[in-house]
Amino acid sequence: AEANQTTIRDVAAHVGQTVRIGCWLTRKRSSGKIQFLQLRDGTGFIQGVAAKNEVDEATWAAADRLTQESSLWVTGVVREEPRSPSGYELSVTGVEIIHLTSDYPITPKEHGIDFLMDHRHLWLRSPKQHAVMTTRATIVRAIQEFFDTRGFTQVDAPILTPTSAEGTTNLFHTKYFDEDAFLTQSGQLYMEAAAMALGKVYSFGPTFRAEKSKTRRHLIEFWMIEPEMAFVDHEENLRVQEQFVSHVVQTVLAKNAKELATLERDTSKLEKALAPFPRITYDDAVKFLNANGFPEFVWGEDFGAPHETAIAESYEKPVFITHYPTSLKAFYMKPDPDRPDVVLCADLIAPEGYGEIIGGSQRIDDPALMEQRFDEHHLSKETYSWYLDLRKYGSVPHSGFGLGLERTVAWICGLDHVRETIPFPRLLYRLYP
Ligand code: 4AD
Ligand code: MG
Repeated sequence: AEANQTTIRDVAAHVGQTVRIGCWLTRKRSSGKIQFLQLRDGTGFIQGVAAKNEVDEATWAAADRLTQESSLWVTGVVREEPRSPSGYELSVTGVEIIHLTSDYPITPKEHGIDFLMDHRHLWLRSPKQHAVMTTRATIVRAIQEFFDTRGFTQVDAPILTPTSAEGTTNLFHTKYFDEDAFLTQSGQLYMEAAAMALGKVYSFGPTFRAEKSKTRRHLIEFWMIEPEMAFVDHEENLRVQEQFVSHVVQTVLAKNAKELATLERDTSKLEKALAPFPRITYDDAVKFLNANGFPEFVWGEDFGAPHETAIAESYEKPVFITHYPTSLKAFYMKPDPDRPDVVLCADLIAPEGYGEIIGGSQRIDDPALMEQRFDEHHLSKETYSWYLDLRKYGSVPHSGFGLGLERTVAWICGLDHVRETIPFPRLLYRLYP
């Protein structure tokens, strides 16, 4: 029979037929009379079985020569195989080597993390990394789908900026011809301008923070989705966030069962991430910490990872911590009118110790208060004069938030470090590959 070229993802449509697939060999096992070829083509993984007494000599010899990560055209008949994780198997009839690999560095034995990070360009080929990247792509699509179907317009924020949104301690400095510039920490300030033009907007792009901290939650370059909404207050901001995060998690559960199984993710925990999410004020969170292992924690201090984890452990869903002290948070956050020492903000803390995945707030809309904040934070009214214009010309209540893509991927995939959530992570002391 004439072989139809297909992909591993599509073999179900070809049961009983002879197909041809461009692929790589990930592993091989041989019994002398049968070779079991573990094959991958980017769309999936499948086992090819070549039997010595059923294939021609050239095919047997080629299968015999195949080494790990050699590329090949395989021809074979698709069979249903309930014992295989993919549900299918290929009875091999032909093997045509494209490129024979020798000494592939990542062997089936255990490798240290530095070795794997140095070989990230090859490590991406492994089933686990394949599952992470596939799930990340679903998350990206689910994020955009959520906002695109709710009247938001995607607006791109600049990457080179003269300003900082989240403080000046972790800015990446560069020259912009004769001027000083920074890589953006957040698109928020630009999204505030866009919201005044388009109502509901979001940016989705890379952001940069020269974090000198080497933790499992920090990347130097990470992707952030930043929605900004005119005429939306703190309460509604939280409702959008919980609907949004539920949607993303439930979409992954529906679309990536196979990948989550590869990652050995306990999906029963993810199934619980349905809106509404619990809320706790910063005040109550401090009381909780004082009573649960952190007696020294003082009101006004910021939470670190151990504090966030302790608070999150009380809940099966993500939890909002609201109303942080004004002194802890960014200059643009609106004070609670009833209590100006706290702001109308929330951090969303993921369950199971994955930490803060969202930071958001209602923004100051009062021009006088914004000017006062500029003075208090020693911000240049010249550099930011465009931002002050937003409070000068038709200022309205507005709110927004930023969700860190990689921390979200880490949580959903159950990974203990963000370095595996992005194809080529930029970490403290790591710019390669
Ligand atoms: O809490 P952050 O700093 O908030 C902002 O940047 C706001 N301007 C967002 C907004 O309101 N438009 O960052 C938002 C999220 C965090 O909750 C976290 O998930 C992620 O971005 N994040 C990081 N992820 C990985 N590595 C880092 N170094 C991160 N810093 C923040
Ligand atoms: Mg934050």
